[in-house]
Amino acid sequence: MTSPTDILGERLLGALTGALELCTVELGRQLGLYTALRDGAHDPATLAKSAGIDERYAREWLEQQAAAGFLTFGDGGFALGPGVAEVLLDEDGPAYAGAAGEFALGVALLTPRVVEAFRTGAGVPYTEYGHVRHGIAGFNRPMFTHLLAGEWLPAVPGIDRRLREQPGARVLDLGCGMGHSSVALARAYPAITVRGVDLDEHSISEARRVAAAAGVADRVGFTTGDAVTAGGTYDLVTIFEALHDMGDPVGVLRNARNLLAPGGSVFIADERVADEFTAPAGEVERLQYAFSVLHCLPATRAEAPVVANGTILRASTLLDWAREAGYTRPEVLDIDNDFWRFYRLR
Ligand SMILES: C[S@@+](CC[C@H](N)C(=O)[O-])C[C@H]1O[C@@H](n2cnc3c(N)ncnc32)[C@H](O)[C@@H]1O
Repeated sequence: MTSPTDILGERLLGALTGALELCTVELGRQLGLYTALRDGAHDPATLAKSAGIDERYAREWLEQQAAAGFLTFGDGGFALGPGVAEVLLDEDGPAYAGAAGEFALGVALLTPRVVEAFRTGAGVPYTEYGHVRHGIAGFNRPMFTHLLAGEWLPAVPGIDRRLREQPGARVLDLGCGMGHSSVALARAYPAITVRGVDLDEHSISEARRVAAAAGVADRVGFTTGDAVTAGGTYDLVTIFEALHDMGDPVGVLRNARNLLAPGGSVFIADERVADEFTAPAGEVERLQYAFSVLHCLPATRAEAPVVANGTILRASTLLDWAREAGYTRPEVLDIDNDFWRFYRLR
């Protein structure tokens, strides 16, 4: 029988292999090596020439990627393995997970700051995590592109109809990050205008670029600021995976309620975690907890928070916040998703 020490040792060794392989994927992504392979490179010389890298390094990376199972190796040389193009190259495709390396790298680079924060109780500002904002955006973008207007909002007919039929309907996207949700909304509902608000000015600059590239900058604008003080009047306020990051979530929900036009509502997506603390937790909650320790809790604590919730936002907590903010009809929506749970507040 395998002992607990053997099991734990093997688990950590597997995690180490995974972590290092993730770094080699990020290396390949940053240098455009997967793109070069897709476009015809097939050995160290052609890869080095096509990607503009050193040939000896190219050979080591190709062999390592094939050893890891990401590439195939045969008579024609090296080639992308099954699924690699979809998962690592198609940034807008439903299977894209290429942001995983950037995500992990962003978190790992800030770990020394988090060590210090644990000692002092201070926060680590979101804006300092750098790569993480791209990791988050990279992960969430395919969901916004394929599910937001394709599945989630059509599941709430009152919201979908209003955005489709009310001329000039207005949407406020709080904690919009790099703006992919705001842009997806504008593309799906051609008559609406969207304002995205986020505390992180680097994200807002990126969001403006994303909206311009998508050709919707005339209907989608972005403002750097705190969600708790955003102004205006809106038919819909959205908050995607950001409420748990906000230092004053009840204040934000109260403000959102005051900004609603008659009959308007708030649509929230936040983490799909268990109803109560459970150990050991499921796979998704393990990921969320690790992210909470290394990123969300330190980032929220940098906001002079009223509440520093961390990533693990349980449904009961969110519904309590909503009632405290004055909503009389907060509800959990029946929308299926592995990572997020959905709420409508009225
Ligand atoms: C996990 S990211 C999600 C970003 C985006 N909604 C998405 O799904 O890709 C959380 C975002 O909340 C923003 N944020 C945190 N506190 C905020 C506040 N008080 N007001 C506005 N934005 C805030 C952060 O800057 C960050 O962009």
